[in-house]
Amino acid sequence: MKNDDAEARADENIEEMMKHLVKDPLKLLAVEQPDVLKIHSVYQENPGFNTILFEKEINAKPGQFVNVWIPGIDEKPISISFVDRENRLFGITVFETGRCSRILCSMKKGGMLGIRGPYGNPFTISKKMKRIALVGGGCGAAPLSFLADCAIAEGIEVYFIVGAKTKDKLLYIDRMKKRGAYVLAATEDGSMGAKGFTTDVLRQLLNTDKVDMIYACGPEIMMQKVIGIADEHNLPCQISMERYMKCGLGVCGQCACDDRLVCKDGPAFEKEEVKTMGDFGKYARLKTGKKVGLKEYYTHGLNKQTAQ
Ligand SMILES: Cc1cc2nc3c(=O)[nH]c(=O)nc-3n(C[C@H](O)[C@H](O)[C@H](O)COP(=O)(O)OP(=O)(O)OC[C@H]3O[C@@H](n4cnc5c(N)ncnc54)[C@H](O)[C@@H]3O)c2cc1C
Ligand code: FES
Repeated sequence: MKNDDAEARADENIEEMMKHLVKDPLKLLAVEQPDVLKIHSVYQENPGFNTILFEKEINAKPGQFVNVWIPGIDEKPISISFVDRENRLFGITVFETGRCSRILCSMKKGGMLGIRGPYGNPFTISKKMKRIALVGGGCGAAPLSFLADCAIAEGIEVYFIVGAKTKDKLLYIDRMKKRGAYVLAATEDGSMGAKGFTTDVLRQLLNTDKVDMIYACGPEIMMQKVIGIADEHNLPCQISMERYMKCGLGVCGQCACDDRLVCKDGPAFEKEEVKTMGDFGKYARLKTGKKVGLKEYYTHGLNKQTAQ
């Protein structure tokens, strides 16, 4: 049944694409070409974490990502972490792990990068919400900081729970405080905030406070726990999933998680949808397309940060 649904959706996508191709082939092809953008500025969040700002009006929603192209090197999906519509700026935050992210982190103001997107299914917020909890582990805080900005602009109270191994890896503490979010930090060594994990902080928060929705992005083991906590409290929850991506458009199938394409159907999913995905928390595909256990996926290459 699920496969039938996925096939029906794929057929609809092809039909939609063909309609555009017939109408205006050049326009469609141009949409998927990268814009070559000059770097407006670079801001070091922490050692190893740089936010790169571009001057461009971007029509993006929180949870969406752009594909960042370094000519001759590679192209990577990176979440949009910041949008300033007034000043026509948007930003991404890159954590130095492997070759591509190392080059991105070394880039300076005035450098050029190719940008495609924004892509993906975003998080959703509603005007009916009064208070929400955001749970970010490591670089997972990036899309959540943009979500927090949007929610606060809608008058929603935001608990921004952010975690990392040590204090120097925590992201956006000052920015979120200035924005008016209630910031709750967790570090594994206790160097800032609660000693332990973001999920411990979420549990404590929900013992005393009521929230309308939980959002999470980070290591899959953390998101699994967040979904469990949301279930215990009978709360809705959206998570942002990561899989190896190539096209970012729903064409190549590289990012498949069961019958979902994470780049198009996600990266943001409702917890009910995540629960139907048998691969969630268990398997992912390497660059070659080979399906492996998550531990192997995270330790393959250099992405040890999320291997927990
Ligand atoms: C939707 C989405 C949003 C992301 N947002 C951010 C972000 O905001 N900031 C950030 O620093 N990183 C983000 N990433 C991860 C980023 O795309 C790269 O994985 C990361 O920069 C490492 O690439 P590398 O070439 O430096 O390292 P490599 O040595 O090539 O890879 C290290 C590990 O990163 C993962 N990885 C590598 N390439 C990809 C890829 N094309 N797609 C997905 N995973 C990959 C694999 O687990 C791999 O083992 C996001 C990934 C996805 C799917
Ligand atoms: S990355 Fe190609 S289908 Fe998702």
